[in-house]
Amino acid sequence: MTSTEPPAPSASRPGPDPTRLGEVVLDLYRIKQGEMLAAVIHLGNRLGLWSALAAQPGTDPAALAERTGLQERWVREWLHAVAAADLVVHEAGRFTLPPELEAALVDTTHPAHMAGVFGPPLTHREVDRTAEAFRTGVGMTWDEHGEHTCHIQTAMGAGLQQSVFVPVVLGAVAGLHERLGAGATVVDVGCGSGVAACAVARAFPASTVIGLDPSGHAIEAARQRGADLANATFRTGTFDELEGLDPDLVLTIDVLHDLPRPLEAMRAVRAALADDGVWLVADIRSRGDLEANRVIPVAPLMYAMSVFYCLSSSLSEPGGAGLGTLGLDAATFRSLAAEAGFSSVTVHEHDVDPTNRYYEVRP
Ligand SMILES: C[S@@+](CC[C@H](N)C(=O)[O-])C[C@H]1O[C@@H](n2cnc3c(N)ncnc32)[C@H](O)[C@@H]1O
Repeated sequence: MTSTEPPAPSASRPGPDPTRLGEVVLDLYRIKQGEMLAAVIHLGNRLGLWSALAAQPGTDPAALAERTGLQERWVREWLHAVAAADLVVHEAGRFTLPPELEAALVDTTHPAHMAGVFGPPLTHREVDRTAEAFRTGVGMTWDEHGEHTCHIQTAMGAGLQQSVFVPVVLGAVAGLHERLGAGATVVDVGCGSGVAACAVARAFPASTVIGLDPSGHAIEAARQRGADLANATFRTGTFDELEGLDPDLVLTIDVLHDLPRPLEAMRAVRAALADDGVWLVADIRSRGDLEANRVIPVAPLMYAMSVFYCLSSSLSEPGGAGLGTLGLDAATFRSLAAEAGFSSVTVHEHDVDPTNRYYEVRP
């Protein structure tokens, strides 16, 4: 029997508890609120409202509208939305951006800067395409999402990659700073928009840095980012292109769990590295399964992003591995690395980067 009628409550299946139902409905509205506020934050980035607010503490809607060249009524409603969300302090018609919000949304040099995370919301096309993937099994590549997605993804790691990647992450690998300082060949595979690759090229001018990524959108963004760097080049490509580049250091940052064929990629790195070469991999600090991963404060965000991005990418070819955002824990990594022929994996965890685990892999 098929019916759209909900089953009637019975003694064995009681109906909803009214108090709990009220809480659940409020929780669901809060989730919807997050979706709408994310779009409002994005408008603030796009229209220059956050930086104008930072420049003029205690502003009123008319002054902010004048400063940004926007319509006062629209600016006033935007201010009411962000003040109601406690992102902005409101007092007697005047609005002030707190310093912490300025660091996160305005100051592009601050390690906590993350405004770009609030890129344009997912499009209907992406949602339709993802629904289709649930039926066919085949997901989207990162590139298929369009030109904005690499910027949103970049914004999640850029602050740390620009500030601590070279001194802390590379600094923890014995002898690496010295080698890069003397001049080495570095290949960043899955370089995205090139933040880490540019940070390495800038810090070590005697080294040559090559960024590879299959996404034309990402490579275009990386080329723009590295336009002033004579020792950094970016081109479309994957792990297959490593052969012949003779790398001393291969970087793979937040990529392996996205790959339909991670073991093949690992074998390609193994084949390309000389005996004294180093492969440095960053991947999410997965604890292995759903219950263990609940300790991650943004686990729901990670699993939800996985549905649209990481799992989708890792299933973008029929028969893909389907690891997804939280699918590569340390034990899985070690076992794949051994299968690919590597003899040594050292795990580094840095307090400054609670999101990633770093694997120093040697032939
Ligand atoms: C989550 S993004 C990480 C980008 C960059 N490493 C960062 O940290 O900002 C994953 C990247 O992997 C790239 N990618 C997907 N499949 C790939 C493959 N087969 N080989 C190399 N990169 C790939 C995607 O295009 C995307 O840019």
